[in-house]
Amino acid sequence: MSGPNTEYDPVAVTPLKADEVEAMRVAALDAVAAARDLEALKRVRTEHAGDRSPLALANREIGALPPQARKDAGMRVGRARGDVNQALAARQAELEAEAEARMLVEETVDVTLPWDLTPQGARHPLTTLQELVGDVFVAMGWEVAEGPEVEAEWLNFDALNLGADHPARTMQDTFWLEPADGGLVMRTHTSPVQARTMLQRRPPIYVVCPGRVFRTDELDATHTPVFSQVEGLVVDRGITMAHLKGTLDHFGEAMFGEGITTRFRPSYFPFTEPSAEVDLVCFVCRGREPAVHGCRTCKGEGWIEWGGCGVVNPRVLAACGIDSETYTGFAFGMGLERTLMFRHGVEDMRDLVEGDVRFTAAFGTEI
Ligand code: PHE
Repeated sequence: MSGPNTEYDPVAVTPLKADEVEAMRVAALDAVAAARDLEALKRVRTEHAGDRSPLALANREIGALPPQARKDAGMRVGRARGDVNQALAARQAELEAEAEARMLVEETVDVTLPWDLTPQGARHPLTTLQELVGDVFVAMGWEVAEGPEVEAEWLNFDALNLGADHPARTMQDTFWLEPADGGLVMRTHTSPVQARTMLQRRPPIYVVCPGRVFRTDELDATHTPVFSQVEGLVVDRGITMAHLKGTLDHFGEAMFGEGITTRFRPSYFPFTEPSAEVDLVCFVCRGREPAVHGCRTCKGEGWIEWGGCGVVNPRVLAACGIDSETYTGFAFGMGLERTLMFRHGVEDMRDLVEGDVRFTAAFGTEI
């Protein structure tokens, strides 16, 4: 744009002629009136009132007029722009009110309608607990391993130092798959997953194996033929019973709260040597004179039985191809149902297997 120019003839500046300005004004007002929604109005604003609109461009020409012509042209363009802006503002208000009214109708919520006619289900607490256990160990850098529920007899028993004539073999009441000599069983514990892990990989091994197991028990308040276990296995250099104790104390606290410790009682398992039963300090009376206070949870013992554990028998390491001179390990196994029953005060095992949604739903909010 040039500065004031006395030789400039306003009549020759087409955009500033009265009828041109009027045409621009009318075109702008028509467009404003024709805008059907806020989007369209936005486009009209840019086109007719924006920096590059005809009226804005005309406005810029004013500076180039000789002083006497500026006033006239300035008034003309100024009025036209004022009219257009006013019309834009009015239409904007109109369209906004329309949009709001439409929204009120379209987004109406009938708060009197009955809610959630289909009741929400919830995950089974055993699944949630199994994942929680996995998380506790994954947080320590362990892996979660799984295996099949129909298992080779050799992996379920023989590899774990439970040969065909081993007396302990009858301790676990086994479901055999047909044909009887087919060598297939429903796994009686999750220990075969540990055997599989050792056969597949070299130490260091830090795995936790949760899963369903099967024994020919009748269903009653404390037994079920299908239940869940979680077993852990570590094989590394220099692993001792102390590592096992520390791990189980941590696991116990993660499950039952701070200060819950474990104790070991001598026991026997073919796959561990030495072996121990793991007890948890009773999380109700915390072992403080339970007999005096008559604690019902631990029946006055101060301790509750949680599972089995021990140092992996070198024969098991050998059967799974691991050099027992270089490596040692520990293993443990707990019943998940038992853990859940303690943790949540569930008194009857049948509640866990019957699948009543009212039972499951009560656990639905636990994460
Ligand atoms: N597998 C054993 C059982 O089911 C539990 C266990 C696992 C015991 C690991 C010791 C070590 O009875």
